[in-house]
Amino acid sequence: MRIDILTVLPELLQSPFDHSIMKRAREKGHLEVHVHQLRKWAVNEYGMVDDYQYGGGAGMVMMCEPLVRAIEELSATVQYDEIIYLTPDGHKLDQRTANALSLKGNLLMICGHYKGIDERVREHFVTKEISIGDYVLSGGELAAAVLVDAIGRLLPGVLNDETSALFDSFQDDLLAPPVYTRPEDFRGWKVPDVLMSGDHRKIDDWRYEQAVKRTEGRRPDLLK
Ligand code: ADE
Repeated sequence: MRIDILTVLPELLQSPFDHSIMKRAREKGHLEVHVHQLRKWAVNEYGMVDDYQYGGGAGMVMMCEPLVRAIEELSATVQYDEIIYLTPDGHKLDQRTANALSLKGNLLMICGHYKGIDERVREHFVTKEISIGDYVLSGGELAAAVLVDAIGRLLPGVLNDETSALFDSFQDDLLAPPVYTRPEDFRGWKVPDVLMSGDHRKIDDWRYEQAVKRTEGRRPDLLK
């Protein structure tokens, strides 16, 4: 998969894909991330990409021209399956959306700033609007990093058996069960007997029960 990201703060997106699973995904050739400085398509020599909003009011709006020039230039060589705008008023990101996006080939992500981007870019170019939660960030960059991570780890070949996404919270609309590691007894707090039993049928049943119990207690909305 190829992901292109348009941003005025490319520095914010330097490190997130250089570690752990995202690093491995890129090294193995499953994921390519290209971060582009939007000011490259600025309307003047001062790097202007935003302007005051019509109708008045505080806060700048990201202009059509730099965004559209960037989108059109990048689209000339890459056929994007989705052009995604990260915005708090978008569709709230969930595992289902991450799964669906992980099946695509090329994605373009737009990080907004200030008051957001001119509505006409949303109307005529953006194909998906995604929010990572009901709170407002200073810009779309951290949201884009979250989205790339959620998608990237699902790409075939990225995770191994041990880290398989099949056992993640949400993958089957259940939260993950509790996990334990050595020592078996820490300050008198013991690991549940069943996990020490070696009986894998029993262990699977226990994990499923725990997952259901945890979901009922914490996220009853996930249980249909
Ligand atoms: N930009 C600002 N806040 C955001 C959010 N919650 N999700 C996605 N993009 C954003």
